[in-house]
Amino acid sequence: MASRMVVTHALTYANGRIHLGHLVEAVQTDIFVRAMNALGREALFISADDTHGTPIEISAAKAGVRPEEWIEAIHREHVEDYKAFEIEYDLYYTTHSAENERHSVRIFEALQADGAIEKRGVEQMYCPTDKRFLPDRFIRGTCPVCGTADQYGDSCENCGSTYQPTELKNPRCAIDGNTALERRVSMHYFVRLSKYQDFLRQWTATPGRLQPEILKSLEKWLAEPLRDWDISRDAPYFGFRIPGEKDKYFYVWLDAPIGYLSSTDHWCQEHGRRVEDFWKSADCDVIHFIGKDIVYFHALFWPAMLKASGWSVPARVHVHGMLTVEGAKMSKSRGTSLDAREYLEAGLDPEWLRYFYAANLGSGATDIDLSLQELKNRVNGELLANVGNLANRALSLIWKNGGRLTRAAMPERAQEIERELAELYTRCDTRAVVQKVLDFSSLANQRLQAAKPWEKLKSEREAALSELTYAVNVARLCARWLGPIAPKFARGVEEQSGAASSWGDFKPLEDAPIREPRPLVRKVEDADIEKLASKFVADKEKEPPAAAQPAAITIDEFGKLDLRAGKVLAAERVPKKDKLLKLSIDLGEGAPRTIVSGVAKSYAPEELVGKNVAVVANLPPRDFGKGLVSHGMILFAGGGAREHTAVELPAEVAPGSKVK
Ligand code: MSP
Ligand code: ZN
Repeated sequence: MASRMVVTHALTYANGRIHLGHLVEAVQTDIFVRAMNALGREALFISADDTHGTPIEISAAKAGVRPEEWIEAIHREHVEDYKAFEIEYDLYYTTHSAENERHSVRIFEALQADGAIEKRGVEQMYCPTDKRFLPDRFIRGTCPVCGTADQYGDSCENCGSTYQPTELKNPRCAIDGNTALERRVSMHYFVRLSKYQDFLRQWTATPGRLQPEILKSLEKWLAEPLRDWDISRDAPYFGFRIPGEKDKYFYVWLDAPIGYLSSTDHWCQEHGRRVEDFWKSADCDVIHFIGKDIVYFHALFWPAMLKASGWSVPARVHVHGMLTVEGAKMSKSRGTSLDAREYLEAGLDPEWLRYFYAANLGSGATDIDLSLQELKNRVNGELLANVGNLANRALSLIWKNGGRLTRAAMPERAQEIERELAELYTRCDTRAVVQKVLDFSSLANQRLQAAKPWEKLKSEREAALSELTYAVNVARLCARWLGPIAPKFARGVEEQSGAASSWGDFKPLEDAPIREPRPLVRKVEDADIEKLASKFVADKEKEPPAAAQPAAITIDEFGKLDLRAGKVLAAERVPKKDKLLKLSIDLGEGAPRTIVSGVAKSYAPEELVGKNVAVVANLPPRDFGKGLVSHGMILFAGGGAREHTAVELPAEVAPGSKVK
């Protein structure tokens, strides 16, 4: 195992406030770094704002400021917010730096020297009213792969495919809604990723790099030749100009991950260290923490760039799940987002959220839900009532009876548990860490309850104090083990018991004075969670009410439905699925589509063959398992003699005709 590591979390996009979802990642990374440092490894914690790209350029323009001013103001806010949640970076930098430009150009040149860069003209969508090419997120339309409507120009939220904006169906400009878009040709730079395919297959499959579920999700990309990656954008753009070009810039996703490297470089310059000792050394691991949504960039593009330029490739990319709040996906537009600021302004303790996240995060990439009631129950019932109570009870009794620890043994299993916890922290399984510490603390509470030293302080003073000293030492162990998660709580226990406690030290603290105990962490009151909930619920009310009646839809929403005439060419039953029929439908697309319908109780297969039916053609594919995938849905009416009656179209309507 390398003795040093650079640990990063994804660079926060400098286009808005930090929300509680960003904090899942920051807290998880911070816990990991604190644990690694506690275990004696040198972990350098680096992150930064991701400052380039069209959205930032447009936001700044709307606000009437230069992009540089915009990102500076955001940076100040981000730094403050992360600090309030005790995220202890060695450096929180920016991608808009001289170092980042230098490294971006160098890596680009390395890719060129490696023969991986190709220049070619690209036909792009151009919005004549905005006078700009519409990249990525500034064009919306229907996914060319799965047919989901209202997707961005670069990737689909439904199927995860990435594609070119010109491939979108029914495109429109996301800035002004213009659908009268032009196609114009512009010269672009591409990285030929397939050149690194073998390397990426081997890198991703190396044990320890990625969680098994993530590796699995990448295998489908790696099975086919990787597509070239367009790394250039036309002016107007906020970013780094491509060497030798006047109006072309590096795409933000090229220079963003390079920000990990260039920020480390900046830290090294300020601390008299060499960036090569971190990013070009067998004795240093580079470890990235990211969310599920940006795996492609970190597991395919980024390692290829590093490989081509001779820097270390990441030792590990840890992916966490997405946060929902009270079951709702975080969404600014739907008002279901909670900012770090809102949490702080409601007067809630950041340590509560840290504890809640830790208690919910395992080593996998499962999504987590913030339930405020659960936050209250966990903090009050676990952190305070269990570990906090052990410390407070024992310290208070000692304080009232001389204020000195006496002699006591250390619990037997302490060393073994600490070893297990080190392992769990390394795997980022903080949920298991919390459980283990709570179990350990519970035992000590039970022992204290059984020994009742408070009844013996007069009669058997030494034995009673020894029992209390034992409890203080257990509480100290628990506090240090929870230290990466709840640093303020841990500091409190250490201060009050009279000395700091470090991992690997199993000598009991004895024969020493303690300090006056005080509450370690404030209890969560109903008023606290109501305050935060009110911000959230008030926001939520802006959402259209979930109507009992089918909600009215707009004509645009209706227009998203791609209804087509389809001719049933063949139909068969599906083994072991007595409701399903597998149909082969001609939609005039050349090859027929497979569509699975749950109507086997209403129709024998042969009854449907030859019928002209109405088909919803732009649904995402649905996987029925065992290789059976449905690519659409056939309309059936209820209420007839059969449970389902096919909605039939006249025979003269040709397959593929639009049904409006
Ligand atoms: N700027 C890019 C990352 C570039 S890294 C070279 C970006 N920024 S972001 O601000 O949109 O997101 C930053 C991180 O926060 C991502 O890892 C993302 O997955 C994470 N999260 C954003 N919303 C989240 C939740 N609701 N829940 C958990 N994590 C969330 O992506
Ligand atoms: Zn899609």
